[in-house]
Amino acid sequence: MAVEARAVVARAKGAPVSVETILVPDPGPGEVMVRVQACGVCHTDLHYREGAITDDFPFLLGHEAAGTVEAVGEGAGELAPGDYVVLAWRAPCGRCRSCRRGRPWYCFDSANAVQPMTLADGTPLTAALGIGAFAEHTLVAAGQAVPVDPAARPEAAGLIGCGVMAGFGAAVNTGGVGLGDSVAVIGCGGVGNAAVAASALVGARRVIAVDLDARKLEWAVGFGATHTINASEVDTVDAVRELTDGFGADVVIDAVGLPSTYRQAFYARDLAGTLVQVGVPDPTMSIDLPLIDLFGRGGALKSSWYGDCLPSRDFPVLIDLYLQGKFDLDGFVSETVALDQVEAAFDKMARGDVLRSVVVL
Ligand SMILES: NC(=O)c1ccc[n+]([C@@H]2O[C@H](COP(=O)([O-])OP(=O)(O)OC[C@H]3O[C@@H](n4cnc5c(N)ncnc54)[C@H](O)[C@@H]3O)[C@@H](O)[C@H]2O)c1
Ligand SMILES: [Zn+2]
Ligand SMILES: [Zn+2]
Repeated sequence: MAVEARAVVARAKGAPVSVETILVPDPGPGEVMVRVQACGVCHTDLHYREGAITDDFPFLLGHEAAGTVEAVGEGAGELAPGDYVVLAWRAPCGRCRSCRRGRPWYCFDSANAVQPMTLADGTPLTAALGIGAFAEHTLVAAGQAVPVDPAARPEAAGLIGCGVMAGFGAAVNTGGVGLGDSVAVIGCGGVGNAAVAASALVGARRVIAVDLDARKLEWAVGFGATHTINASEVDTVDAVRELTDGFGADVVIDAVGLPSTYRQAFYARDLAGTLVQVGVPDPTMSIDLPLIDLFGRGGALKSSWYGDCLPSRDFPVLIDLYLQGKFDLDGFVSETVALDQVEAAFDKMARGDVLRSVVVL
């Protein structure tokens, strides 16, 4: 018997989201039903509402969630009802050409629940990033539910499921930031500040936070930034070079996703430095760079999908670092809100008032 749940649905491009009653099917083979306890509001949810990801409305939004397993289908592995989990939008299939080559963090055929959740009239919903967790219950593939230490409160733990992992992994997994590196992070929202915190944690010597908003920069200092640049006042490339003996940073992370910030990241690198693009561009955007600069500046230009994370490996590590007081996950929880306040949370995000609003259910 399907379970009824209250959930946040985006019905049409650009239209405000609404709280609706949805139907969540009983878990089938390889699926689990999760009772969601908390789910962060991410910029990507807004991208969905704006129709910037796909046109498959209606969407069931929300994808940065923690909760407990309520019911398991056949073949759900070791998961059992009551397990405390963080939901992941990557569950490596083990069979695609990337998994077979030993690179499951790129998995090209990540698992999701097979059965759709629906509106009360049976209209299938597209779950954001295969999760859909602004909902009392949600249905995911068993591999998407990653057990973590239940001592971590759900408001904080859920954030590991997307933005924080994306930013942390952009620095550590994709950018390979390590001891002694200089790092610049352009855009210090939830994603960028996680990259700042990760860089500081692994021993980067200089961690330069760049944003247009002074509040974001203050928060970045709290997460371990050694220097800040207000890009509304000075030129980002010049300022990064000044802070790195005139050379540029070893790793520059674009956590905004605009042609202008990509260009800044490209030129704010030292020779042979690494650019990591983690901010998601709009499909209409393009960039024009002199080919001689691509060659002459060398290094690596990388995209970071979900921080190149392996959820089953990385989520428990980040939760442990949090519980040991080494990684300030609580610092990303700006406020907790109710299910019917997601639209207001989008406004606060757009105004830059929050790093993360977290819906508590
Ligand atoms: N690659 C991935 O797997 C992945 C995962 C999650 C989110 N994202 C993407 O990462 C991006 C950031 O997400 P977020 O939740 O942190 O968003 P956010 O809106 O909270 O943060 C964006 C920050 O960028 C700043 N900014 C905007 N324009 C700027 C500019 N020109 N120069 C400097 N700073 C500027 C804003 O002031 C804000 O602080 C989004 O595009 C989101 O979709 C990517
Ligand atoms: Zn795969
Ligand atoms: Zn997200």
